[in-house]
Amino acid sequence: MRLDKFLADMGYGSRKEVKGYIKKGRVTVNDNIVKSDKTQVDEQTDQVCFDQEPIQYQRWYYYLLHKPAGVISATVDSYEETVLDLFTEEDFREDLFPVGRLDKDTEGFLLITNDGVLAHQLLSPKKHVEKEYYAQVEGIMTEADQSVFEKGLQLDGEWTLPAQLMITNTNQIEGTSEIQLILHEGKFHQVKRMVQAVGKEVRYLKRIRMGGLSLPADLPVGSYRPLTTDELALLAKPKE
Ligand code: URA
Repeated sequence: MRLDKFLADMGYGSRKEVKGYIKKGRVTVNDNIVKSDKTQVDEQTDQVCFDQEPIQYQRWYYYLLHKPAGVISATVDSYEETVLDLFTEEDFREDLFPVGRLDKDTEGFLLITNDGVLAHQLLSPKKHVEKEYYAQVEGIMTEADQSVFEKGLQLDGEWTLPAQLMITNTNQIEGTSEIQLILHEGKFHQVKRMVQAVGKEVRYLKRIRMGGLSLPADLPVGSYRPLTTDELALLAKPKE
């Protein structure tokens, strides 16, 4: 690939900016100063340095963020804190974005990447990538609700796909329940609206799994870490 693309991909600046750096002699390829931005480099074998610092080429970035409540699933916003504001200056890149949305008050599993193709695959309703949520609910969830969710229900006239509801706890005195819900699509406010459709209210919501990958127990709220290649494969692969 061209040297200017290599440097721009690696976050050293826009194509125009990195061309300037190359002209100034700040970039070497295999220890030779190169002054042409059209120089071709092999990102696997050539050693590219910027101000003598070697650059390891990486085109695609995948992070798993444990989203806290109170931040929005957007890249930039003038008023609200976004999920990308949680990134350190070192890890932040202009092309990162969240795969899908969690509501501002929802916590949990959120993939952040610059890979539009993977994002599209994970979000495509045709791929049926499972999303699993844990919720605390005002009201007692019942077996009848389980069958309604399993058949699919209408939200503003639109049918949902069958969803699997597990009732993990009910407190008859307080009139509350804890549930886990597996969805195969991602309609707007889907968990909250499905629970409302059976006459109850979500009080707390957290996404705990996407595809075959669960939110790691050791990833604190508000933190993120890169995904391994194995984890990426798990994410895109439905749970057996
Ligand atoms: N369903 C919701 O209602 N909210 C979310 O953030 C995710 C799923």
